[in-house]
Amino acid sequence: MEAARQATRLLAAVTRPNRGISYWDYIRVEDLLSLQKGVHGDEAHVGNDEVLFITVHQVYELWFKLILRELEHVRAVIRQNPVPDQALSSAVRSLRRCVTIFEVAADHWRVVETLTTRDYLAFRDQLVGASGFQSAQIRQLEILLGLDDDQRLGCAGEASYKDVLRTAEGGTTPALERVERQIAGGPSFRHALYDWLARTPIDGSNDEASVRAYTEAFLASHEAQAHHLVESTGDALPHMDRSVLEKRYQRDIDHARGFLEARDLTHLPEDEQHRRRHSRAALVFIESHRELPRLTWPRELIDTTLILEQSMVVWRQRHARMVERVIGRRTGTGGSGGVDYLDATAQRYRIFDDLWAVRTLLLKSELTPSLARSDDYRFRIED
Ligand code: HEM
Repeated sequence: MEAARQATRLLAAVTRPNRGISYWDYIRVEDLLSLQKGVHGDEAHVGNDEVLFITVHQVYELWFKLILRELEHVRAVIRQNPVPDQALSSAVRSLRRCVTIFEVAADHWRVVETLTTRDYLAFRDQLVGASGFQSAQIRQLEILLGLDDDQRLGCAGEASYKDVLRTAEGGTTPALERVERQIAGGPSFRHALYDWLARTPIDGSNDEASVRAYTEAFLASHEAQAHHLVESTGDALPHMDRSVLEKRYQRDIDHARGFLEARDLTHLPEDEQHRRRHSRAALVFIESHRELPRLTWPRELIDTTLILEQSMVVWRQRHARMVERVIGRRTGTGGSGGVDYLDATAQRYRIFDDLWAVRTLLLKSELTPSLARSDDYRFRIED
C-alpha cells in the first residue's frame, strides 16, 4: 500500500499537467505546409516538379539539423576528461542515428531523380545564384566534424565557402552567422576524438617509453607478417616478378612505421606530433584488443565514426550521380564545374584520416602483441 502511495507521489512530482495538445499544433503542420511557395511566394503558381524540388531540400535541411544536434552531443561526451566509460554508449547511439539518417537520406536522391532533365530545366534558370553550395548546415556539419579549411575545394572561382554566404553587397546573412557561430563553438569532433585517443593508456601506461615499446612490438609483428606474405604470395603468383612484390610489401612496412612515428606530420609542432603518435598508437591498440571489456565501447565509437564518414562519402557520391543523371555535366547554378566538383568533394573530403589509415596496418589477432597489463581493461565497479 505504502509502495503504491509512493509511486503515485513520484508520478505527480515528475509529470507536468497535460492540458492536451493536438497533432497539428504540436507538429506545426500548417506552418510546414506553407513553406513551398517558390521564388514568387505563391504556391498556386508553382508546379509539382518544383514543389518536389523544394520539399526534398527542406527534408534534407531537417535531417542536417538532427545530425548536428547528435554530433554536438557526441563531441560533448568525448571532450570530458576523463570520458566516463558509461557515457560512451550514448555517444555511439548518437553516431548510429547519424549513420542511419545519412543512409536514408542517400535514398532521397531517388525521389529527385523522378525529375527529368526537361522538368528541371523548366524552372532551373530562375534559381541561378542559389545552390546547395550555400547550405549553411552542411558547412556546419563539416566544421563540427573537423574538415580543415585548406582541404576545401573552391566552388566558383576564388570565392570561399564563406564568401558565397554573403549578400551581393558583401553583407552578412543568417547563413553566414550560423557558420561563424559553429566555428566559434569550440574544437571539432575530430580534434576532441584525437585528444581522447592521445590520453588513452596503452597497455596500462601513458608513459612515452611504454607507448613506444608497444608500437615497436606491433611493428615487429607487422614486418614479420609482410615477409611471410612475400613468401606465400610469391608462390601463389608464379607469373609475378618477385622483386615487384617485395617492393610492395616493403612499402607497406615503411608506411606502417611512418604512420606510427607520424613522419607525415613533421611540419607540426613537436607536442602535436607527440599527441598524434600517441593517438595513432591508441587506435592500433584499441582495434587490436577490442575484446577487452573497457576497450569494447571505445572501439565501437571509433568504428561508428568511420561508418559515419563512409555514409557521408556515399551520400556525396550519390548526389553527384543524381546530378549527372538530371543535368549532365553542365555548370552548376552555384557556378561550379557541376558533377566534377561534386565528385572531387567525395574523393577529397576525408576528415577521420587516421581511422581509415589504421585499417591498412591491422594484424590478425594471433599476431597482435600480448599485453602485460590486460587486467587494467576489465570492467571497474565504481561506487
Ligand atoms: C535536381 C536537383 C539537384 C541538382 C541538379 C543539384 C546540383 C548541384 C550542383 C551542380 C552542385 C555544385 C555547386 C553548384 O555549382 O551549384 C550542388 C551542390 C550541392 N548540393 Fe545539389 N543539386 C540538386 C539537389 C540537391 C538537394 C535536394 C540537396 C539537399 C540539400 C542538395 C545539396 C547540395 C549541397 C549540400 C551542395 C554543396 C556540396 C559541397 O559543396 O560539398 N542538392 N548541387
